[in-house]
Amino acid sequence: KAMRNEISNLVRSVSDPVTKKAFDTEMQSFFYLFTRYLAKRAHSVELDWDRIKSPTEDKIVPYSKLSDGDVQNLHKLAVLKVNGGLGTSMGMTGAKSALEVKDDMTFLDLTVRQIEHLNTTHRVDVPLILMTSFNTHEDTLRIIKKYANQQLRITTFNQSRYPRIYKESLLPCPKSADDDKKNWYPPGHGDLYNALYQSGVLDQLLAEGKEYLFVSNSDNLGAVVDEKILAHMVETGAEFIMEVTDKTKADVKGGTLIDYDGIIRLLEVAQVPNEHIEDFKSVRKFKIFNTNNLWINLKALKRLMENGEMELDIIVNPKTTDDGQAVLQLETAAGDAIQFFKNGHGVNVPRSRFLPVKSCSDLLLIKSDIYSLQHGQLVINEQRMFETTPVIKLGDHFKKIAQFQKRFKKIPKIIELDHLTVTGDVYFGRNVTLRGTVIIVANEGQRIDIPDGCILENRLVSGNLNL
Ligand code: UTP
Repeated sequence: KAMRNEISNLVRSVSDPVTKKAFDTEMQSFFYLFTRYLAKRAHSVELDWDRIKSPTEDKIVPYSKLSDGDVQNLHKLAVLKVNGGLGTSMGMTGAKSALEVKDDMTFLDLTVRQIEHLNTTHRVDVPLILMTSFNTHEDTLRIIKKYANQQLRITTFNQSRYPRIYKESLLPCPKSADDDKKNWYPPGHGDLYNALYQSGVLDQLLAEGKEYLFVSNSDNLGAVVDEKILAHMVETGAEFIMEVTDKTKADVKGGTLIDYDGIIRLLEVAQVPNEHIEDFKSVRKFKIFNTNNLWINLKALKRLMENGEMELDIIVNPKTTDDGQAVLQLETAAGDAIQFFKNGHGVNVPRSRFLPVKSCSDLLLIKSDIYSLQHGQLVINEQRMFETTPVIKLGDHFKKIAQFQKRFKKIPKIIELDHLTVTGDVYFGRNVTLRGTVIIVANEGQRIDIPDGCILENRLVSGNLNL
């Protein structure tokens, strides 16, 4: 009740009638999520671990079993990038997709190249839709401005902005609708469905004759349109397809598909009880994980939204404010929608369709000469002798993007690198080459500068450099 009052006050703080109406709708959606959260807390409806099973074989179709695509299907397709997140783990304050990857092009520019290439090769008109948030909207518009007069149609829409909640009192942090940014949050990529529906973009796509939507993370340059998966979706009539890929020991975090009382569902690490975390991480029981490349039947989505049947599991994301107060963010994940669609299932795709940039180590790899560009797509450089990409571990000094940019004057040449570990206060000059296994350790209080033009091959560098 207290929350209801506070929400009404927030809505009352808006004077412009049009803005007020939209804000009111948004707050109603938030309030509904909040009441579901309270109900869940009261009844502690958690997944019962013993009822979780691996999905049956027919629910995870190997990519190699798919037959060829049909160009005609592309006429019914739209591509959407979820682009509302900040990349907080990399210390970003703007859109991650606005980072430059190669040849002065950002993730967004490369996505545009990929779709332009698809459209010109097949003479189709697949539009690009970008879901932004109040955190990423400006960055996104700045980048796509230059495509305004191009053939490719780009549509943007904003996802919701929900109030953070104080953990103790369960009251909203913002005091008015225009209160500081830090009191609000974008409620996860699961917000996609609500935002598509409320913004009118869903109806617009259906009116244009689009039936399928390919969704992926804006930092995943491996998520190019795949005609085989699209054809598989059309042929099987599946309303939802999640691309999953084989899990390695390094992939401990990604959600996985499970069979729960005969229903296929996504299981995220946040939903796993503490005593089962190790189980969840194991590669044996959960062999695959969600790439967040999702294929969605738009008519089915409309049906679910109209019937109010999209009740995604709430992920509670605990945060601390600048002044040390515990707050909560109630979020949802897009892949969780699989449980509500008819014949939803997974397709096990090659790892190359999942090239995320979660850390500055990932960023170094994709910016490096290991990859070259082909129509906006990253392909492993022909000069690389091995199938695998190098393992890169940059220490805490490289965690934040600003530090990363400061510490690499230029990205080193790593085409012959197997393994790189860097810890401590290290700076790289221009035209550095790293080969084999290179470990650079600057101890506490030390600083190491790798000079311009330096070649390091199977070297352990620590203390003062005498090169
Ligand atoms: P994640 O939040 O899962 O991972 O976003 P991340 O990009 O590594 O971000 P941090 O470092 O954990 O903060 C995955 C994708 O979902 C989008 C992001 O922009 C990214 O493309 N996203 C996330 C949204 O569109 N909205 C959100 O509210 C959250």
